[in-house]
Amino acid sequence: MADTFDALTHGCYVVTTVLDDRRYGMTCCWATQIDADKILLILGSQSTTARAIRRSRIFGVNVLTTEQKGLALHFGEGHSDVYDKFAGVNLQESVTGVPLLAGALKTIGCELVEDVEHQGGSSFVGRILYFRQSSQAKEPLLLVHIDG
Ligand SMILES: Cc1cc2nc3c(=O)[nH]c(=O)nc-3n(C[C@H](O)[C@H](O)[C@H](O)COP(=O)(O)O)c2cc1C
Repeated sequence: MADTFDALTHGCYVVTTVLDDRRYGMTCCWATQIDADKILLILGSQSTTARAIRRSRIFGVNVLTTEQKGLALHFGEGHSDVYDKFAGVNLQESVTGVPLLAGALKTIGCELVEDVEHQGGSSFVGRILYFRQSSQAKEPLLLVHIDG
């Protein structure tokens, strides 16, 4: 059987939160919309952002463009409780307080409404409180763009 890691087609997102004045951010591709106002994230137990979201109860989702592959790689390694991943990263104004990346195709602010722990990680469901779409028509970054 072929490698099943990328069996479905996934977009690339930077998921963020803020807790005790510290900013957290990670790349997440295992995410999807499950209702008109709800987003599901599958976050592994390695993620310090996941642990912070569990406490802050809010998170941001930044839909990356193909021009932001560097940000996907940047937020996809290291841990937010060790160093500030946002140093030198351009941000846009945020209504909910979570970091939102400048130049993202779409920026979303959510409140955590469900958190289910399972082997190796957690499923987080967020209800959308804020949504903004860029006026610039750019291509969304997909996981396949990173692998390939
Ligand atoms: C392209 C890409 C996609 C990723 N998708 C996920 C994901 O869906 N869920 C997850 O838990 N980690 C995913 N990761 C790994 C996390 O981004 C990584 O463990 C990160 O360093 C966690 O950072 P944190 O400790 O600051 O939260 C992905 C990484 C990359 C590069």
